[in-house]
Amino acid sequence: MSFKELNEKFNFNGKSVLCVGGTKGIGAGIATRFAQLGANVSIAGRSAETATQMLEQLAKNAKNIEEQKFKYFKVDCSSASSLSAFIAEVKTHYAVGGLDYLVQSQGDWTSGDIGVKSEDGLDKRFSIVCFSKFNIAYQLTPVLKEASLFVFGPRKSGSIDLNDVELSSNNSFWTAAGRDGAFLDSMTMELQTHDKKGIRYFHVKPGVVKTDLVKNSNRGRVLQGVMSLANSMMGQDPVEHANLEVYLVSQATHGGRYDEKGRLIRDYSWIEDENNRKQLWDWTYNKSNALFRLDSSNQQPPSVSNLA
Ligand SMILES: NC(=O)c1ccc[n+]([C@@H]2O[C@H](COP(=O)([O-])OP(=O)(O)OC[C@H]3O[C@@H](n4cnc5c(N)ncnc54)[C@H](OP(=O)(O)O)[C@@H]3O)[C@@H](O)[C@H]2O)c1
Repeated sequence: MSFKELNEKFNFNGKSVLCVGGTKGIGAGIATRFAQLGANVSIAGRSAETATQMLEQLAKNAKNIEEQKFKYFKVDCSSASSLSAFIAEVKTHYAVGGLDYLVQSQGDWTSGDIGVKSEDGLDKRFSIVCFSKFNIAYQLTPVLKEASLFVFGPRKSGSIDLNDVELSSNNSFWTAAGRDGAFLDSMTMELQTHDKKGIRYFHVKPGVVKTDLVKNSNRGRVLQGVMSLANSMMGQDPVEHANLEVYLVSQATHGGRYDEKGRLIRDYSWIEDENNRKQLWDWTYNKSNALFRLDSSNQQPPSVSNLA
């Protein structure tokens, strides 16, 4: 049975999802699919204007508009103060009833230009694509009930220079993309290891999805041209594609790293080395703690892992 058919058999009535980066692209596709299946859907991103249009789209796609609730949270994931306000608002909103599924796909090719610093002094691309995803997942633990999913790109090889996680000395586009994938792989595994609530943590490769990701970028004409062509020729429709993420968070029994066909990715020696992951976790935790003063009761000693 396809993911689409399995999702159609599942009862999403009363389930809640928050899609950070859900105002456009892959996240918007996931939010729309959840709306079609009957869930209550929240979206988050910077642009209130885009979000208003997206909320109208969600209402049009609702399975039962009388029953379902749609909401927008404004956040700029490159800013610690914006993230703090957003996380507090989300916690209050879901204090009663909780949040079933958290999906994060925030980041595009323009918002995190290489070499640009965020207002907090972090590499801006790193702060949006990596750091915000960890912090949102970690800090929403008290209200999260079932699953947390990062959409980016699990790796099968490569490593992170633990002395230069923000890539101050080699910040090329492809090096940064490799770092981002490995970072989110590591945090997925570590969040799972530290879990004590039975939450399943995922990192998913979306494959090629038809979005405006490349259109507004300034990566150089050749790269932009090739990527735009690949995206328009090979790209999957975002709502069709979303069946993968919807299936994983609602029905997959084990968290982990998954490819675009929903197959578990294993055998990646750098992140499977616990020592590497622990060092990266400590580095990230300390940086986060300096900016957010984390609630350490979220960080539990390793329990029985849910990873397959
Ligand atoms: N499309 C693909 O084929 C593909 C393939 C592999 C990996 N990916 C990765 O998947 C992720 C999503 O791609 P996409 O195609 O969905 O991109 P997209 O269409 O450009 O959407 C990006 C989303 O992230 C939000 N966003 C960007 N910067 C933000 C910030 N600073 N704070 C809060 N929200 C922010 C945007 O909303 P606002 O502009 O309103 O903030 C939007 O909702 C990217 O990291 C991309 O590299 C995509």
